[in-house]
Amino acid sequence: MKKNTYYLLAICLICVLASCKNLKTDDKQAQVSVLKETFKNKFHIGVALNKQEFMGFNTKASEAIATHFNSIVAENCMKSMFLQPKEGEFFFNDADKFIGFGEKNNMHIIGHTLIWHSQAPGWFFRDKEGNDVSAEVLTQRMKNHIHTVVGRYKGRVKGWDVVNEAIEDNGEWRKSKFYQIIGKDFIKLAFQFAHEADPDAELYYNDYSMALDGRRATVVQMVKSLQEQGIRIDGIGMQGHVDMYGPSINDFEKSILAYAGLGMKVMVTELDLSVLPSPWENVGANISDAIDYQEQMNPYPAGLTENMEQQWEARYMDFFKLFLKHHDKIDRVTLWGLSDATSWKNDFPIKDRVDYPLLFDRDYNPKPIVSKFSALTNSELTALKTN
Ligand code: GLA
Repeated sequence: MKKNTYYLLAICLICVLASCKNLKTDDKQAQVSVLKETFKNKFHIGVALNKQEFMGFNTKASEAIATHFNSIVAENCMKSMFLQPKEGEFFFNDADKFIGFGEKNNMHIIGHTLIWHSQAPGWFFRDKEGNDVSAEVLTQRMKNHIHTVVGRYKGRVKGWDVVNEAIEDNGEWRKSKFYQIIGKDFIKLAFQFAHEADPDAELYYNDYSMALDGRRATVVQMVKSLQEQGIRIDGIGMQGHVDMYGPSINDFEKSILAYAGLGMKVMVTELDLSVLPSPWENVGANISDAIDYQEQMNPYPAGLTENMEQQWEARYMDFFKLFLKHHDKIDRVTLWGLSDATSWKNDFPIKDRVDYPLLFDRDYNPKPIVSKFSALTNSELTALKTN
């Protein structure tokens, strides 16, 4: 054979090998569904990011986030105790990096959270002598905090959780410092200040156990009253810290309908489905409630049983079927974290347990359910709608 023919054969062989390699990669990608593709045209699919993830220190996690999600929220770095640890001294380094991550990946960025009784710095409510400040001073501090934070990210954050967790399970107003010092009007003021700082940003109220009758009734009243006063509010965040026992899909649906009926966009925020026994009847997320460790409360330290894994998948499916059924009312579903490895549920409300609440395992690989979601076909959805 001539030298030229050898060259030609060698080139052909390289081409064949290269196309085989591509086929292999394509095959692999075809097997794992991508969440944001599965839920495209239905709702945004979001995730809460910790510092390792938005700084890029955990590359596997950051890549999975960029591949699967189109919305992000900061797990901690935008809470007031981190953004303004001392009066007038703002710390934006982490939040800037978080926003940068979202912009680089073309994501829908959510700001969490402006006014919350928890994870707020102590100085916010006290004067130099340690006494509660007056309503005027607290209002001024709220205004300054909200204007500075929202103003900094004006036009870059799609929507803000303006007020977090102002109402109790039974529908009473939480007796937070904001409520004690200013009264119910702190809600209205917070929304007004946020709107002044970025007139184009969407504004949300966010709370846990939002499927409870008492909380639902008061949230509905609160939204109506804001609307009557001409205050901008765009959406309601239903935190989804759920477990195997509650809430029921029915109760969750009642709340989606109630909030959407007010013209609110519904966001399922902070979704995680715990498999662990709960020391309470109603699972909440009051992070100051901690309970002592007992072995029987940590039943799966070395992995889930097959049976529990199936039950967990089935319940997650039920929730997602509900979200898909009401996708015209639901704007976003956000998981409270990427991987079981770093979920807060391992430590709440009992420290040092092993929980499995998220869609990615401890090695940051998607769990089988991620691909199973894409099997919820359009025809199944149509069937659900007509039920
Ligand atoms: C609440 C808050 C979140 C987070 C969780 C626990 O739900 O809204 O910011 O602190 O508790 O991780």
